[in-house]
Amino acid sequence: MPAIEVRNLCRTYKVYRKREGLMASLKGLLHREFSEVHAVRDVSFTIDEGEMLAFLGPNGAGKTTTLKLLSGLIVPTSGTATVLGHVPWKREDAYRRRFSLVTGQKEQLWWDLPAQESFRLHKEIYRISGPDYDSRLEELTELLQVTDLMQQPVRELSLGERMRMELIAALLHRPDVLFLDEPTIGLDVVSQRRVQQFLRKYQAEQGITVILTSHYMKDVEALCDRAIVINKGNVIHDGALAEIVDRFSQHKIIELHFASGSEPNGIDRFGVVLEDRGPMIRLQIERQRVSEALSAILQQYDIEDISVSERPLEDVIAELFASDEEPAA
Ligand SMILES: Nc1ncnc2c1ncn2[C@@H]1O[C@H](COP(=O)(O)OP(=O)(O)OP(=O)(O)O)[C@@H](O)[C@H]1O
Ligand SMILES: [Mg+2]
Repeated sequence: MPAIEVRNLCRTYKVYRKREGLMASLKGLLHREFSEVHAVRDVSFTIDEGEMLAFLGPNGAGKTTTLKLLSGLIVPTSGTATVLGHVPWKREDAYRRRFSLVTGQKEQLWWDLPAQESFRLHKEIYRISGPDYDSRLEELTELLQVTDLMQQPVRELSLGERMRMELIAALLHRPDVLFLDEPTIGLDVVSQRRVQQFLRKYQAEQGITVILTSHYMKDVEALCDRAIVINKGNVIHDGALAEIVDRFSQHKIIELHFASGSEPNGIDRFGVVLEDRGPMIRLQIERQRVSEALSAILQQYDIEDISVSERPLEDVIAELFASDEEPAA
């Protein structure tokens, strides 16, 4: 059974245009001019229970808006969505208890109090029983290695420590669906990895359904098999993460090890030299020219070893986002 179903979801924001000059401003009071921002244009997807899906897209693509819709924080302009059978923007109490939204940019913890105090508040809000609360808190603080930090005011915690506390706050009531909006933003590599490891373990153990947005492909690769890519409010890819490289990368990377004494003169006829280190050269070659180039290279040079690989997901995504044109779906 699908946990999340989204059909033709749209959300338009009206942005009022300010007019220049006094007369214009006065006119503006009478005739407000506005333009429309189509934050989410026509988004449809289905996510099964227990899936961990990456939701990717450049800045302003509509990721946060979609997660806000699914969390019931805003109402769509048109379209439908159900999460665990609930329409999020009806804001039913029964739904509130089944999901959590974690964002890297906005905190739900009280700044001046130890995290523990905020957790107690969550216990009351979600009416978590004493024994459940104690065992979950112990489990989560251990998994996230923050047991020693529980008494410290949140403002004294590092960004990474704070994010781990945010995750605890989000998970205390055992949601079945978790929306993670850039949970590792601004974290150093070690903290990022810690959060990744926690999420992987927790998700596997609890079987919860997760939507993750992140600009760090390392997060995405570590956690998700499937990705939805959106751009300008439209879904441009929905499928295996690995397919993104297949579908959107026009190039492959070829690593050549030249036999000693063999000179790589003129190798740049075949592609762009990415790296030139002694007997090893890395070339970027157009996908459809790879086999032709390989046989020519093997004929003309003395090659000891050769390997062909895909471009890293990170590069492909960066290029995909940089190109203004929407690739054919
Ligand atoms: N409250 C709002 N009022 C007007 N426009 C908004 C509002 N919220 C978002 N938008 C616009 O909607 C579009 C989508 O924004 P959204 O925050 O969903 O993008 P995003 O994919 O989360 O981007 P990022 O990667 O930068 O977080 C943007 O053009 C943004 O400026
Ligand atoms: Mg966002």
